[in-house]
Amino acid sequence: MSLSISNLSHTYSSSALSDRNVLNDISLSLSGGEQLLLRGISGSGKTTLINILAGLLSPSRGSVSLGGQDVYAMAEAERDEWRRKTIGYVFQTHQLLPLLNAWENVAMPLSFAGTPRGESKSRALELLESVGLANHANNRPKELSTGQRQRVAIARALINQPELILADEPTASLDEHAASEALDLLQQNCKERNTVLIVASHDPLLNGRFERVADLAYGELVEKDAVA
Ligand SMILES: Nc1ncnc2c1ncn2[C@@H]1O[C@H](COP(=O)(O)OP(=O)(O)OP(=O)(O)O)[C@@H](O)[C@H]1O
Ligand SMILES: [Mg+2]
Repeated sequence: MSLSISNLSHTYSSSALSDRNVLNDISLSLSGGEQLLLRGISGSGKTTLINILAGLLSPSRGSVSLGGQDVYAMAEAERDEWRRKTIGYVFQTHQLLPLLNAWENVAMPLSFAGTPRGESKSRALELLESVGLANHANNRPKELSTGQRQRVAIARALINQPELILADEPTASLDEHAASEALDLLQQNCKERNTVLIVASHDPLLNGRFERVADLAYGELVEKDAVA
């Protein structure tokens, strides 16, 4: 499934501050199996762009289409449903639910989709095993390390077998080894399932691990030759 972004602009309006133009006429296309590293300094608009791609923030101008479906042509309820089926989102702050244990957090997207609890649990446990957390399935987030929480968040983003995986700083606060493993998981999944993967990060460790790299600065997105 391919992703196409056309002439996308976004301005945050706020009564207290002057309008803030964050994205300015951005266009980009990615095919299934392609992986893009989205770079840019803090405040350059990476999370804004990711939220727009996830169907969570309506852009001021322009369009996003995934597999030929115009994301913002859908009514909000339809888009919510589409997002649950189509998008895997690893948030910048992992956003695990504190009262649920690891497997329940991973299985959450399935329970929204009405999957029976037994089936959700066995799929969640399988994924936790693949991220090396089989022994932590019953731990709540506060009982896990930062890196372990991030892996739970990645497992949760993958459980619905999404077509588009968006990961916002997935390696922030991980050490080099854990960061590399987290990225392996995302990239392996993208290759195996031929999905589109976009990773937003300013972590230099990620340079050289992506076929496509784009820099966001002053509202413009400029694609670079991938560094070897
Ligand atoms: N809800 C909002 N209302 C108004 N301005 C916002 C809002 N969210 C973000 N901004 C502004 O938009 C700009 C881009 O923010 P964004 O969070 O997209 O940056 P980022 O590249 O993800 O930064 P970081 O690397 O720190 O996560 C910033 O100047 C920020 O202050
Ligand atoms: Mg951000």
